[in-house]
Amino acid sequence: MLNILHLSDPHFHSSWEDNKEVTAKLEYIGNEFPDHKLIVTGDIVDDGYGAQYRRALEAFQPFIGRIFICPGNHDFGRKGNLYSKNCVNRFDKLMYDLGHRQKYGSHPIVHVLKDEDNTRGIMLIGLSSAIRSKDPFDFACGRIGWLQRRRLDRILMNPETIGMRKIVYFHHHPFEWFSFFGQMLDARKLIRLLSAKCEVVLFGHKHKSDMWTKYNYIDYILSAADLRRTKMIREISVDKEVISVQEHSIG
Ligand SMILES: [Fe+2]
Ligand SMILES: [Fe+2]
Repeated sequence: MLNILHLSDPHFHSSWEDNKEVTAKLEYIGNEFPDHKLIVTGDIVDDGYGAQYRRALEAFQPFIGRIFICPGNHDFGRKGNLYSKNCVNRFDKLMYDLGHRQKYGSHPIVHVLKDEDNTRGIMLIGLSSAIRSKDPFDFACGRIGWLQRRRLDRILMNPETIGMRKIVYFHHHPFEWFSFFGQMLDARKLIRLLSAKCEVVLFGHKHKSDMWTKYNYIDYILSAADLRRTKMIREISVDKEVISVQEHSIG
């Protein structure tokens, strides 16, 4: 059986004091779930500063080899809205330090997990929805972009991967069409593309936990609250390719 925990929005700050709740929860998760994979759906840090990324790497250290992350709007710029290339470089370095040799850009990031019960493999597909724009009037919005969508479509439609269970993760909300702040601008196109082609979708950004089942022919769509305040995390289990979701208290 493969077990995956979904976390989101840790928003690491520069000082130890400000990260107390988040690091305590990660320590608890590390002790209670020593073999689980972790997917963290963005806003890893609060403003993209170097010290914040260093705190994140220290806290993620015990999970190296089993942690998968994607960027949120706060990872790429101050206040989640002011894009900076330096912040992107720091995110890329964090990926590298966590053992990943790919960078987010126009290519989805794919990992295949296997065990004796899931010999066909579980495909994890990470997307970047963080906009690379310096316009403050973007209001923390997100976009997958046509090139990333096109490549995602090719991955989902590849006949060699059609029998695989697929979990797609990104930061912004994929079907809140009418939100002015922080909406994903091409959400309708993304959800149409994912419909009936993946089993699980994970996201964060709104700092609100929720779960939709069988929405748009996707078995589970899960949003996680921010790690600082949440008292619950969800576990996605894949046992002989049957997927189930459970909630666990973390304090
Ligand atoms: Fe956030
Ligand atoms: Fe966000």
